Parts: sequence; structure tokens; C-alpha cells
Amino acid sequence: MSTIDPSNIPPQILHRNLLGAIVPRPIAFASTIDSFGHANLSPFSCFNVFGVNPSTLIFSPSRSGQTNEVKDTYLNVIEVPEVVINVVTYSMVEQMNLASTEFPRGINEFYKSGFTPVPSEKIKPFRVKESPVQIECKVQQVIETGDGAGAANLVICEVLLIHANDNILDKTGMIDTRKLDLVGRMGGDYYVRASGRALFALEKPSGKSPIGVDSLPENIRMSTILTGNDIGRLGSLNSRPTAPEIEKYFTSADFRKISSTHSGNAGKILEEAHKLAHTMIAGNEIFKALLLLLAVSNLANTEM
Ligand SMILES: Cc1cc2nc3c(=O)[nH]c(=O)nc-3n(C[C@H](O)[C@H](O)[C@H](O)COP(=O)(O)O)c2cc1C
Repeated sequence: MSTIDPSNIPPQILHRNLLGAIVPRPIAFASTIDSFGHANLSPFSCFNVFGVNPSTLIFSPSRSGQTNEVKDTYLNVIEVPEVVINVVTYSMVEQMNLASTEFPRGINEFYKSGFTPVPSEKIKPFRVKESPVQIECKVQQVIETGDGAGAANLVICEVLLIHANDNILDKTGMIDTRKLDLVGRMGGDYYVRASGRALFALEKPSGKSPIGVDSLPENIRMSTILTGNDIGRLGSLNSRPTAPEIEKYFTSADFRKISSTHSGNAGKILEEAHKLAHTMIAGNEIFKALLLLLAVSNLANTEM
């Protein structure tokens, strides 16, 4: 492992490492105005949602790492503490990238990038018509974390109104994350597209009482065949097979096949059982996989 001590490297190198590692980041396409009413539109990936009561979004138009200048968006939210945060879909990336150009203050990036401004209902900055979710926010607080190049300016926003395009809603009228096709920012020039095969579901363990990885025998926890995800799924089971269930499994076809093929070779039986368990877990037969693993562990213990 390489170790990086932030106090020993220039901010630009730290920036590359940290922003290359903390990925993918969602993108706030922030629409603001200055006190003269000049519109501004810029993307910020130092962004996330932090609470819903009150509903809190935070993004950071930071001081430039090169010039230490502050961004127009930061100056605007100080002058007019309002912002529309628009999400960025894959179909918007090229224009969004163009809008991130550091145009002189007062230049309207809606026009430069070709996005369509739509009036908001509760605040003065415009919404981006092409974005499927547009969030009108009041800026509650701006926290400057420092005055050196690359210092963050945390813009803490409270959500006033959320506009969602009908075509990204599910049957119950809720925003369907699978329909959004949003992009996330990676390190350097890379992005990630959150759609298709990149999406996968993981059931939440909340409300359950999983047995935990620590309850598994050492040969399972330390297996060189089972993956971390396999072990995580075994540990997520809500119950462990009982002794009679394991006993009964000794007579199963799966078990007999392995034990008879490699009769007397406990190490080989264990290896084959782990391979089969890996396949079973991939096929969602988690409990059965644990039965097999525990039965084989018992056999190995008695034979060795
Ligand atoms: C996808 C993307 C994400 C960005 N994220 C940030 C960010 O989180 N903070 C930041 O200060 N600049 C970020 N930038 C750069 C700003 O968008 C850029 O400096 C922009 O010109 C600022 O505009 P403004 O001066 O009009 O506010 C990002 C650029 C892109 C393309």
C-alpha cells in the first residue's frame, strides 16, 4: 500500500488523488444569479444530500486550485442566496461540460451551452428545462473552510420545491432512479453512466438480524475460493442451519457426490465444496450453500 500524507504534497496532487478516489460523485448543475439578475450555470461534483428534515443539499464551488480565485457561483449565492440544483443526464454531458468553462463573470452559461432557462416558482434563478429533476433551494449558510487555493466553500441549501419530469416517475408517482440515466464524476476526465448493466439492487439489511460473518467457521471466512461478496451474503442470512439440518444434508446428492469423488481427501472435499458453494451463492441458493459448507466443515473436522 502507498501512503499519502496530505501535509507533504502540493494541493494539486492531493486533489488528483482524493478526487480520483472519492468516486463516483453526483453532479449538481447549479443555476444562480447575481444581484443584477445575470444568470449563471455551472456543474459541481462536490455535492450530495445530507438530510431530509430539513431537506439539506450541500455543494462546493471551491477556490481555484491554480489561481485561488473564487467561483462566480460562490459570489452569486452570497449576493442572492438562492440556487436551482439540476441533475445531469447522459444526454446533457457535452453541454454541461461546455458550461463548466470559466467564462468571465456575468456571462450567461445557459446561452453559451445551449440549455433552456425556465422560470422557477419560488426563487429567482432559472431551472434547466433539459434536466429531468430541478430542485429549487434557499441557501441557508455558506461555510468557507479556508482561504488558500483549493479550499472548499460549502453552500448549505434547503430544498423548497422539487420539479420532476413525468417520464422518470414510477407507477406510484415516485422518482424512479432506474429511469434517470444520470452521470457521475470520476477522477480526471472520466465519468460514469448510471444505467443498464451498471445498476444492481442490494436488499437493505434493516429490520433483520443477520448471523454475521463472525459466526462462520474459519475455513469459510478464510476461504481462497469464496469471495468477499459470497461471505457477505452468507453472513447476511437470518438464521444458521441447525445441527439436525446439517446432519440431514450429509445424505443429500450434492454432498454424496463430493465426498465419494474425493473420499479420504479432506482438503480436496473442502475445495470442491467451496467451489460448489460459490456457484450456489451466485444462483441465490445461499442457505443451501451454507448447509453444504457447514456439512463439509464438520466432515473435514472429523476426518482430520
Ligand atoms: C462535472 C464537473 C464537476 C465539477 N465540480 C466542481 C466542484 O465540485 N467544485 C468546483 O469548485 N468546481 C467544479 N467544477 C469546475 C467548475 O464547474 C468550473 O470551475 C466552473 O467554471 C465554475 O463556474 P463559475 O465560476 O461560473 O461558478 C466541475 C466541473 C465539471 C465539468
